[in-house]
Amino acid sequence: MARRKKIYEGKAKILYEGPEPGTIVQYFKDDATAFNAQKKDVIEGKGVLNNRLSEFFMTGLNNIGVPTHFLKRLNMREQLVRSCEIIPLEVIVRNFAAGSLAKRLGLEEGTPLPRPIVEYCYKDDKLGDPLVTEEHIAAFGWASQQDMDDILSLALRVNDYLSGLMYGVGIRLVDFKIEIGRVYDGDFQRLVVADEISPDSCRLWDLQTGQKLDKDVFRRDLGSLTDAYTEVAERLGVMPKQATHISKPKLIN
Ligand SMILES: Nc1ncnc2c1ncn2[C@@H]1O[C@H](COP(=O)(O)OP(=O)(O)O)[C@@H](O)[C@H]1O
Ligand SMILES: [Mg+2]
Repeated sequence: MARRKKIYEGKAKILYEGPEPGTIVQYFKDDATAFNAQKKDVIEGKGVLNNRLSEFFMTGLNNIGVPTHFLKRLNMREQLVRSCEIIPLEVIVRNFAAGSLAKRLGLEEGTPLPRPIVEYCYKDDKLGDPLVTEEHIAAFGWASQQDMDDILSLALRVNDYLSGLMYGVGIRLVDFKIEIGRVYDGDFQRLVVADEISPDSCRLWDLQTGQKLDKDVFRRDLGSLTDAYTEVAERLGVMPKQATHISKPKLIN
């Protein structure tokens, strides 16, 4: 069998050339990293869960008219996506204070924000993805004013969709990060939601108990990451509930 061409290997995923021009295969690894890859581990099963969850969220978005790069899932760890030119920004939407925002503004984690706050970080691992303003984005030409209007609208639509979906299964969407890509249809360029949407890129808290069901479980050593992600997947009906006990065959003598 011919070897596939690897395009890029990142912290959580590998990109391979897709079967048709303009497509890419995204392979979800089990690697977990935090604090700009200073903390690393391999968490068995994480890639499978994120592949399924990202498929679920992206399919839902496509179906309500929010364009994404997602085309179809290929197997347990891989999905076919449209190849995009990624805008070098991490687009963060926050509904409640947590993480760096809580620290920066001295807010207690979980404080409701007066309205969703959208932040932009420049995607550069060497610099630690620094926070930037629209002024920097315009001055350095990372995105045009029209792009920024479209990015804001996409980010808020994803926020409403994900918040509602999570609320329905008793989970609070505290914040999340998305990446946006450009695709070209003939002479026209469109922006689509790219990369992944998964508990790696969201903060998800149980509505009743406040239990964390996202990558903070790994960042802060709060227990099993796969248990947390499996809980999210089960509540959303993405993964069937695990059989509680599969008994081994018994020897009869
Ligand atoms: N549809 C797409 N087309 C091209 N690149 C993409 C697409 N979706 C995601 N990417 C890029 O692929 C990489 C995914 O791998 P990941 O492990 O998340 O990398 P990183 O360590 O850079 O975050 C990211 O750099 C992301 O920007
Ligand atoms: Mg990434």
